[in-house]
Amino acid sequence: MTTSAPLQTTALPTGSQEDGSIELRQVRKVYGDVTAVDDLDLTVRPGEFVTLLGPSGSGKTTTMMMVAGFEDLTSGMVLINGQPVDRLPPKDRNLGVVFQSYALFPHMSARENVEFALRMRKVRPAERRQRAEEALDRVGLAKMGDRRPRQLSGGQQQRVALARALVFNPSALLLDEPMAALDKRLREQMQEEIKTIQRSLGISVLFVTHDQDEAMSMSDRIVVMRDGKIVQQGAPEDVYAHPVTDWVANFLGDTNLLPCTVMERSDDVAVVDLGELGVGRVRDRGAVGERYAVSIRPEHMAFIPAVRAENSASGRVVSSTNLGATLRHRLRAGGQDLMVRELSAGPRAPRDLDADVCVGWEQDEAQLLVLDS
Ligand SMILES: Nc1ncnc2c1ncn2[C@@H]1O[C@H](COP(=O)(O)OP(=O)(O)OP(=O)(O)O)[C@@H](O)[C@H]1O
Ligand SMILES: [Mg+2]
Repeated sequence: MTTSAPLQTTALPTGSQEDGSIELRQVRKVYGDVTAVDDLDLTVRPGEFVTLLGPSGSGKTTTMMMVAGFEDLTSGMVLINGQPVDRLPPKDRNLGVVFQSYALFPHMSARENVEFALRMRKVRPAERRQRAEEALDRVGLAKMGDRRPRQLSGGQQQRVALARALVFNPSALLLDEPMAALDKRLREQMQEEIKTIQRSLGISVLFVTHDQDEAMSMSDRIVVMRDGKIVQQGAPEDVYAHPVTDWVANFLGDTNLLPCTVMERSDDVAVVDLGELGVGRVRDRGAVGERYAVSIRPEHMAFIPAVRAENSASGRVVSSTNLGATLRHRLRAGGQDLMVRELSAGPRAPRDLDADVCVGWEQDEAQLLVLDS
């Protein structure tokens, strides 16, 4: 995909209008006494890139398997292109699927692996070959069609799997941790390439990752899952900036979570008791007397010359590390661990260990979160 060849799509003849939408209605999967997916409602709109993000065991793969047709639903309904698919076998759902293990056939060349998807769909040999070549070209492997999987790197095998998923012009792509086996640089390259392909084809994608940065950079919408349920969904920047609970805040990036009790409220501002850290003021909801956590991202905490009446803390430096582009400082303040992150531009340098410091934050950067950890 370092080539700039125009992307061609020769659609397979289909009888229906395929907008690439995916809809799950009250989808449930129970294995014995484990509810892997718990009455999930989820829609992927045409052309949208939606990422399922959640801890191990939260039901992401099970969800993908039910959409792909590899697992039956315990109850509920899946619609693809607006049509119920419960009676359709996987190959008739017209979804391009890449799972973590690429599952290429070792005895077939890259091209034959890609062609296989067309053979299953009864495309004639001459057309198969041409379309496999086009798909390999699209993923930057034009010259490698004759190689067997073991003669390809992990990243190249991953691209063959992607070419195989794209070659029959699927309505949508299901990608379950497709880059988990790749190192960081290759992974970032593949992320950009998948985005480029997705945008140029205008194809809908349901994606699964463990990697928050990957989810943040690739998705139109992030769906945060926990115990088979959706706990929050929205644009990446919204979920990051406005997590609904302390659990989501913690799961999606580093944050400082300060336990608090709301003392008073006026309009949309709450004054909170932060215990040894004094008093805070947050622009948010919250009920007087109730316990919450104030969340402040490490990049929103800054060193200040002296403590203020509100929204600040004094403490001691526990560690201070230059990470290249940023500095990360860990502090102990009022019986709590805090983290401060700064860009390492200009005169900023690691702080001395045990130095006494003060930090503060802006009211608008503090979020009052429901406790759910
Ligand atoms: N075939 C199965 N039989 C019994 N339990 C299963 C089966 N497949 C999945 N589970 C259980 O269902 C739950 C959800 O599993 P799933 O594979 O969907 O999680 P996941 O979110 O994909 O996790 P990971 O991030 O580790 O891939 C887990 O508790 C898992 O143990
Ligand atoms: Mg999984």
